[in-house]
Amino acid sequence: MSDLETLTSQLQELSTKAVESVQAAITPEQLEQVRLEFLGKKGALSKVLGGMGKLPGADRPKIGAIANEIKQTLQTQLEQQKNALRQAEIAKRLESETLDVTMPGVMRFPQGRAHPLHSAIDRALDVLVGLGYTIAQGPEIETEYYNFEALNTPADHPARDMQDTLYLTDGKLLRTQTSSVQIRYMEENDPPLRIACPGGRVYRKDEVDATHLPIFHQIELLAVEEGLTFGDLKGTVTTFVEQLLGEQVEVRFRASYFPFTEPSAEVDVKWKGRWLELGGCGMVDPNVFKAVGYDPEAVSGFAFGFGADRIALVLHQIDDIRLMVGSDLRFLRQF
Ligand code: DAH
Repeated sequence: MSDLETLTSQLQELSTKAVESVQAAITPEQLEQVRLEFLGKKGALSKVLGGMGKLPGADRPKIGAIANEIKQTLQTQLEQQKNALRQAEIAKRLESETLDVTMPGVMRFPQGRAHPLHSAIDRALDVLVGLGYTIAQGPEIETEYYNFEALNTPADHPARDMQDTLYLTDGKLLRTQTSSVQIRYMEENDPPLRIACPGGRVYRKDEVDATHLPIFHQIELLAVEEGLTFGDLKGTVTTFVEQLLGEQVEVRFRASYFPFTEPSAEVDVKWKGRWLELGGCGMVDPNVFKAVGYDPEAVSGFAFGFGADRIALVLHQIDDIRLMVGSDLRFLRQF
């Protein structure tokens, strides 16, 4: 056998072995080993080509061409195999990391949730904001002026007895009603206006029972503009109650008295077979407008103040208002 034939067959044998080795490699490391073994500086191909020196000059290019072809084929195959291994690796990982999103959840930490009172206030606010009211707030420690005097309830007014007040020093008191917010807002803003005071705390020296708490929450509303009538008040209150508690709830207006409204009414809803008072309402008294510098001839207004805790009772079907402040988890977890 001539040297040319020997080398050629050595090269072919090498090529066959190399292809087998590439296919047998199943990790990137093994593949790199194969590359070094056959194509490395001291690899099999270099060794075979080392024998080229013995060849006559005319034969060398032939061997060179075959060697190049083998080298290229091998490189292509190494590359392909590398890609195939990478794909297989990715597929395996995806398989092992598959997430079944339909599996039932596991809760490691108990989730926080809104207190039934606050969820009721939130819902009431949604309704009022939907009716075009914006939010206004005031302090819980009030002056007698904002809580009573400016609301047409001077010191000697018998209506002060209606609200058993907790007085502080310096003519301050714990506000008995969020109606004080009306005065504060009107002092700072011109009509027309529509405001809602969302669930502020009010304080009274009251006896506790299933429907009374000495600290409770009121949702106050005030609308002032030209030409508002008692019909607007009734329509607004009815819409508010129906949107909040459902259209099936029976609403009743009862003529009543408040120093700061004329005429005045109390609003009841049918609840567990009895009428439950939700709060008071009325047309703003001209004296209240005078106290804030509005012209009672030019504008009229209506207002209401509802017990937020009572709304929560009806909304969540709770039958004792004391549960609202008990922090009993067995109760709270139901909402
Ligand atoms: N502030 C009254 C109370 O707490 C309720 C009330 C009555 C509020 C009439 C009003 C109103 O805004 O117009 O008993």
